[in-house]
Amino acid sequence: MSREQRKMDHIFEAVNQEQTHYPFEDITFIHQALATSNVQTCSLEATFLGHSFPMPLLINAMTGGGGIQTLQINEQLAEVAQLYSIPMAVGSQMAAIKDPSQAETYKVIRQKAPSNFLIANLGAEATAEDALSAVEMIEANALQIHFNHIQELAMPEGDRNFSKRLHNLESIVHKSPVPVIAKEVGFGMTRESIAALKEIGVAAVDVSGKGGTNFSRIENARRNQPMSFFNNWGISTPIALAEATSLKEPPVLIASGGITSSFDVAKSIALGASMTAMSGKLIQLLVNDGLDYVISYLQQLKTELTYILAALNVSNLTQLQSAPFVISGKTHHWLHERGIE
Ligand code: FNR
Repeated sequence: MSREQRKMDHIFEAVNQEQTHYPFEDITFIHQALATSNVQTCSLEATFLGHSFPMPLLINAMTGGGGIQTLQINEQLAEVAQLYSIPMAVGSQMAAIKDPSQAETYKVIRQKAPSNFLIANLGAEATAEDALSAVEMIEANALQIHFNHIQELAMPEGDRNFSKRLHNLESIVHKSPVPVIAKEVGFGMTRESIAALKEIGVAAVDVSGKGGTNFSRIENARRNQPMSFFNNWGISTPIALAEATSLKEPPVLIASGGITSSFDVAKSIALGASMTAMSGKLIQLLVNDGLDYVISYLQQLKTELTYILAALNVSNLTQLQSAPFVISGKTHHWLHERGIE
């Protein structure tokens, strides 16, 4: 199967995937009956990697390198990013590094979002040289390196040897001209993994937990003999955030994996994230409902977020990070078992 076909399969499966886990339901904000807030003065300004953004949301890595369809998707996502001045990550650029004729499907993002904060993306199998090419290709402001071994194992044609990944990350961090973000792809991270990434020197960690796009289910839909034991594998996004903030000095955190609403964004910030990220939800809306719908969806999300801030009697994201909540259900059980209270 060609890389191009696989990318199109991933988009098709992600667009048709239904959310089956709702881990953010285990997080309940505590109602503030005596709020003295004012929606008009609630600010969603987010500071991330030394830059300021009008809301704490980025468009996470998805696509590129699959021909005209991915070019059009990237073009439209870049338009959204530019309109809202929010950061956007491209999908893995390995396709264009192996075949430079594919580079246009990524470069279109810089053309459509000339002044935006753009994030290059490669898997941890990449070398420092690949990383420099990826950053140059889109004049990126940051670089994501993804760790996706469960996806690879679930993929019939996937990698089977992950032995060089941490070593590669170290040399990328050492040589990258822009900040490096380490990310998962929907299976989450523990505090031990996050501490190891911080030790290597990454600028931020995207925990990308279980609860949204599920690459095991995507790969199983493509194979004759499904390996269903990976379908429930991983660490949910709220758990991964709580794991991370149990560290003495957590790194800058991005919450992704199952972020589909303003409420998920708010809960992620309260759990310690500085930024949140969406993939699956945005591609579903874009493919099923079109660009205009995505634009109005994000406008609504922004409005809702200011209402949530006002409801919690806070007026900015720093205060939201201290908003009180209760953790119940499986999330509570996990954190208790792990000694994280
Ligand atoms: C992804 N994701 C991804 N991640 C990455 O680092 N490089 C990549 O090339 C891709 N490709 C990709 C394609 C498609 C179609 C989807 C939906 C997702 C993973 C993505 O960035 C994110 O980590 C997970 O999808 C979890 O977030 P959501 O989808 O639940 O919001």
